[in-house]
Amino acid sequence: MLDLTLLWQMSVVSDVPSVENLRVCDSVDLDVYLQHEAHISVDGVLANLAPDGEYILGKPAGILIASPSNGENGEPEYLSTWTRDSSLTFKVLVELFIGGNGSLRPKIDDWVALQGKLQLLSNPSGFPNSGGLGDPRFEVDGTTAWMNWARPQRDGPALRATTLTLFSNWLISNGETAHVLDQVWPIISKDLAYTARYWNQTGFDLWEESWGSSFFTVAASHRALVEGAALAKRLGHACALCESTSPEVLCFLQSFWTGTHITSQLNYNQGWKHHDLDSSTIISSIHTFDPEANCDDATLQPCSSRALANLKVTTEDFRSYKLNEGISLGKAIALGRYNAGDEYYGGNPCTSGWPRWLHAAIHQWKRIQYITVTDVSLSFFTDLVPSIRPGRYTKGTPTYDNLLSAVRTYADGFFAIVQKYTPQNGDLAEQFSKVDGSPLSARKLTWSYASFLSAKLRRDGILGQSWNSASSKLPATQCVGRPICTSLTFSLLADSIPESEQVYVVGSVDQLVTVDLPTDMPFEFKFIRKWPNQETRWQPGSNFVATSAANCGEKVTVNSSVEWQPDQTSGAARTIIMTSGARRAIRAWFVW
Ligand code: NOJ
Repeated sequence: MLDLTLLWQMSVVSDVPSVENLRVCDSVDLDVYLQHEAHISVDGVLANLAPDGEYILGKPAGILIASPSNGENGEPEYLSTWTRDSSLTFKVLVELFIGGNGSLRPKIDDWVALQGKLQLLSNPSGFPNSGGLGDPRFEVDGTTAWMNWARPQRDGPALRATTLTLFSNWLISNGETAHVLDQVWPIISKDLAYTARYWNQTGFDLWEESWGSSFFTVAASHRALVEGAALAKRLGHACALCESTSPEVLCFLQSFWTGTHITSQLNYNQGWKHHDLDSSTIISSIHTFDPEANCDDATLQPCSSRALANLKVTTEDFRSYKLNEGISLGKAIALGRYNAGDEYYGGNPCTSGWPRWLHAAIHQWKRIQYITVTDVSLSFFTDLVPSIRPGRYTKGTPTYDNLLSAVRTYADGFFAIVQKYTPQNGDLAEQFSKVDGSPLSARKLTWSYASFLSAKLRRDGILGQSWNSASSKLPATQCVGRPICTSLTFSLLADSIPESEQVYVVGSVDQLVTVDLPTDMPFEFKFIRKWPNQETRWQPGSNFVATSAANCGEKVTVNSSVEWQPDQTSGAARTIIMTSGARRAIRAWFVW
C-alpha cells in the first residue's frame, strides 16, 4: 500500500529519480513512473493554490486556479477558480490528509473558509439564496466573475458538499465536532439546500456546453443529499429535505439508462449541443463509487452491470481517434470528453484518471468475493476474456482470478497511456492530441493532476469513504418529478401605465424564458417598463419573491406595489422571447 505521508514528502524531497531519466526510457517500470508522476501531481496542484502556489502567489488563501493558462498564446483563459474543479481536487487532498498527510490541514481549512465567502457573492446566476451557488467560476481575487459564461452549472454545490462531508466525518471522528458545527456545516447546509431545490432543473453540463439535465449533475446531487442527510444526523441536526428528495433524485437517475448505456443528457435544449455518449458518465461512476456498496445498478456503482456496459459502449466511441488506431479490443485506448462534434481544441483525449473506475470495481468484487457476468455486462467482459459466459464466479475459482487479473491489466493499460503521452517534465495538460499525443489546451491543469492522484490512490488500495449509498432506496411507488406547467401569467395592477408601453418580467430562473416552470418552485422577479422610444425603467426596490403554484393552473398572488423611477438598467438580458404589448397579461420576459 502506498504510504501517503511518504507520497506527500516526496514533493519536498528529491530522493526520487529525475523525470528526464524516467522519460528517456519508455520501458521504465510502470510502478516507478506512477510514483514519480504522483510526486509531480501533488506539486502541480499546490503550485495552483493560493497564497503560496507559484502561479497564484499572494492571492487570497484557498483560491485554487483551474490552470495557469491565462488566455494568451492560443491557450484558454483558466485563471479562475471553478467550484467543480476545486471541489474534486480538494476531495483528493482530503483523502491524502486522512491518509496521514497532516501538512495539508491548513490548506484545507483555507479552502473551506474561502468557500463560505464565495457562497455569499451575488453573481450572474443569482443571489446567495436564489441560485447564486450554481455560478461555476470566480475571479482569482475571490470576487464574482461577471463575464459571459455557461451558467448556472448545478453540480458545483453538490460536489463541494461531498468534499466537505468527507472532511467533516473525519473531524467528528477526531474530536472536532464543534469545529464542524461552527465552520463547515453552515457551508454544507447551504449547498444541500441548493441541491435539494435545484436538482431537477436544467442547467449547463460539466463541459459547459450543453443545456439540459446532466447525468453527472444528477448523480452528484444524489450522493451529496444521501451523505448530507447522514452527516446532519451525526451532528444532531436533520436534513429533512435531503431525506425526502434523495429517493426522487435516484428515481430520475434511472431514466438515463437506455438499455445499452447511460445517456449523458435528458431534457436538452436544442439550441445547445447535445451528445448521447459522453465520458462524463464514466467520471460520474468514479465520483459516486462507494467502497462499501455492492454492484448496485441503481447508483451505477463501478462493478454494476449497467456501469460496465456503459464503460464498454462509451469507450468504443473513442476508437476512431488516430492515436487509437490498431489497438485491439480489450486494450486501453485514449479517451476524451465525447467524440462526435467535440470541437474544443479539436476534440482530443483528456484527463488521466480513467483507471480509477476499474480499480474501484476490483475492490468491490474483492469485498463481495464474487464477480457476476450478466447479459448486460457480457460485452465488457468478453473483450477481456473472450470465452467468458454469463454466470457468477466466486473467489477461489480460476475464472474469478482470471477476470480480476484481466481487469487489472486493462486498468494499467490506461496508466500506460498517461505514461506514453505525458511530456518529459511530467506536466499534465487538459488534453493531448488525438493525432500525435502532444499536450493541448490548458497547461498544468489542476483537475488532471487530481484525477491522476486519485487513480493512483485507488490502484494502491486507498478507497475513500462510504457515502452510505445502500441507505438510498428508490421510492416504493412509481417516481414522478414535479409537474411542469406550460403557461404562466403575470398580472401587474398598475393603472398608470399607458397602453403604448410594454411591461416585461425579468426573473432569476431560466424557466421563465421557456415558460416551463415546475410547480412549487421558488424564484425572484421584477417588472420592467419599456417606453415606445425603447427607454427602459426597472421596478425599483427589492425583488419580488414568489413560489410557483403547487399545481398547474392555480393562481399565486404576490403582494406588490411598484413605484416607477428613472432608468435602472442593471442586469444582463439573455433572451427576450416575445413581446406582447399587453400591459396586464404580461407574457414577455427574460432572465437576469
Ligand atoms: C473546461 C471543462 O470542460 C470544465 O469541466 C472545467 O471545469 C473547466 N474547463 C475548468 O477546468
